[in-house]
Amino acid sequence: MNALTQLIGTEHPLIQAPMAGVQGAALAVAVSNAGALGSLPCAMLTPETMEQQLSAIAAGTSQPYNVNFFCHTQPEPDEAREAAWRFWLAPFYEEAGIDISNVPAGAGRVPFNRAAADILERFRPKVVSFHFGLPDIDLLERVKGWGSVVISSATTIEEARWLEAFGVDAVIAQGIEAGGHRGMFLTDDLSTQMGTMALLPQIVAAVSVPVIAAGGIADAAGVAAAMALGASGVQVGTAYLCCHEATTSPVHRAALHTEAAHHTALTHVFTGRPARGIVNRVMRELGPMNPAAPAFPLATAAMAPLRAHWEAHASGDFSPLWSGQNASGCREAPAAEITRDLAQGFAAGPAGR
Ligand SMILES: Cc1cc2nc3c(=O)[nH]c(=O)nc-3n(C[C@H](O)[C@H](O)[C@H](O)COP(=O)(O)O)c2cc1C
Repeated sequence: MNALTQLIGTEHPLIQAPMAGVQGAALAVAVSNAGALGSLPCAMLTPETMEQQLSAIAAGTSQPYNVNFFCHTQPEPDEAREAAWRFWLAPFYEEAGIDISNVPAGAGRVPFNRAAADILERFRPKVVSFHFGLPDIDLLERVKGWGSVVISSATTIEEARWLEAFGVDAVIAQGIEAGGHRGMFLTDDLSTQMGTMALLPQIVAAVSVPVIAAGGIADAAGVAAAMALGASGVQVGTAYLCCHEATTSPVHRAALHTEAAHHTALTHVFTGRPARGIVNRVMRELGPMNPAAPAFPLATAAMAPLRAHWEAHASGDFSPLWSGQNASGCREAPAAEITRDLAQGFAAGPAGR
């Protein structure tokens, strides 16, 4: 037992990273039943789906699990920016034979809100994790009030201190190697972002709550390295992307298994916020960063039909192929096996704090 397993109630201080769009209840259940903390990402779920997925987890495991939400501020729709972005995308629509006037605008991802809290309260998960900071204080107090442990991602030392000051029970130190969205919320300056090996020990020194390392951890040796640097546990995403229980698309799985996965970049052309994915055609031709992209999450809508069109042609050229910098742990195997292999890393070294 260490500080983190005491807090979250699992056998291993290992969290399967919540990964919106590529997994549901099945992965969370498999990981929780294997002795780590399975996670359900809710950022892209309707209230109905969220409730159904939570019911599936409750039916599938009696072990602790984590439910994850984004907590960005929803931007006002900006017609001029949307039009400018569609101008950039117009040649791609034309090539794919899609009528640009038929592509609806829309949000794509919803922040944690009262309706989600109402559903969540009935399930009272052991852990609730947030990305992009924390929700409003009244919502945060509700979650803490029913007894869930609250954790959130920090990408800088300042963000870790901020999260501790606002009452999180543990901080996830998300290094720049990590796949998916950067959890950054006090800054949008990418030059502030550090690798896990630099960020983790400095956050460990800066806060007194347990620190969970995330980003680039793909095997037991990576787990042991994070623990040696003072982590109380690890959160691993990319290594679970090809497991049997993940719903990762065929084009995404295929890319993870090729040398293409050696080249990832931070891009915001898919959603409006920087996220790490395997470099593909749309990232090369429009970005990877492009000042015309609408604010998060409004950039999502315009890309959706291009993604659907090209995936139907077995191409991931317009898909967000989220991946961390180290995809070497991706295997077509049961999640329990991946969990067991990662957990070997806890036996190898000091148990963290
Ligand atoms: C496909 C994918 C989707 C992700 N979606 C989320 C999410 O919905 N919520 C979240 O908090 N983090 C999300 N993340 C980030 C993870 O929490 C974590 O920081 C990251 O996976 C750790 O680095 P690794 O991918 O190198 O293991 C996602 C990561 C990936 C790879």
